Amino acid sequence: MITGKFPNLRLRRSRKNDWSRRLIEENSLSASDFILPIFIIEGKNKKQEVNSMPGVYRYTLDKINFVVDRAIKNGIPMIALFPYTNKKKKNKFGTEALNEDNLVCKALQSIKRKYKNEIGIMCDVALDPYTSHGHDGLFTNNYVLNDETVNILVKQSLLQAQMGCDVLAPSDMMDGRIGKIRKYLDKNGYKMTQILSYAVKYASSFYGPFRDAVGSKGFLKGDKKNYQMDFRNSNEALREVALDIKEGADMVMVKPGLPYLDIISSVKENFKIPVMAYQVSGEYSLLTNGVNKNLIDQNVILESLIAFKRAGANAIVSYYADRLDKILK
Ligand code: PBG
Repeated sequence: MITGKFPNLRLRRSRKNDWSRRLIEENSLSASDFILPIFIIEGKNKKQEVNSMPGVYRYTLDKINFVVDRAIKNGIPMIALFPYTNKKKKNKFGTEALNEDNLVCKALQSIKRKYKNEIGIMCDVALDPYTSHGHDGLFTNNYVLNDETVNILVKQSLLQAQMGCDVLAPSDMMDGRIGKIRKYLDKNGYKMTQILSYAVKYASSFYGPFRDAVGSKGFLKGDKKNYQMDFRNSNEALREVALDIKEGADMVMVKPGLPYLDIISSVKENFKIPVMAYQVSGEYSLLTNGVNKNLIDQNVILESLIAFKRAGANAIVSYYADRLDKILK
């Protein structure tokens, strides 16, 4: 209960000095609260800046050790790999997803070989980097097929687990895929591979710059509203989470981040499960451009990250996770 009465109680008393403000702080951030996304590209000796995401780069595999080394040194628990896929490897069915020699598989093997269990590796499960229409699954008559897509996603999941992925993150929003993936992994000896379900993923324009980063910009036919959630809804988010927990999700993701703090908070409140927040590309680009143009102080970055913790997120996927020394200081 909140009690007390002015003038006996003056809340400003404890705000007067820095030491006192620190003493009563309710939330804080450390490196363990972050997942670092890394964009990877084919080739050698390349580090390319993503046009729409200043300060974020795509790396060839021979260049990522530097990024992974630093993440480990700074105490980041997990990285998330996202492949840039050349147009000639995309087709209607997204078959490159099941190629044992695809970029993600190569990256998984080389990072695991070098770093063992020093850092976790998470990979998206979805077909959108690999499809010529940019959708997360099989696309016919302006509709993404559910069960047929899930049949491919279970194979993509097993392949990534075999290559060394620690945490599979289905980001496709098909119904029933968590249960099917869990069962297939277990049957094939991958009982301990974790599943972080993008249980609550809204059809959002905040993903725009990401599609540039992975090379699917301009490919997308229509929109993703027949599988990703309507941003008007919140009860539906709880139904999504409830189903995914029953199907075997170890953790759930809410995405985008900052505009959906209410969802993070109610998922946490209702289910007591680890909840991850994704501060997506559009959020990153808006904040970064505002700061770079001196429209707004760079403290907005820390302020927005703390907001995730306050809402109840256990960790945050953030493109700032490679610059925490500057942001958290
Ligand atoms: C693909 C995927 C997307 C993001 C992560 N995985 C884009 C989409 O669904 O269109 C977005 C991440 C970001 O914007 O930072 N399934």
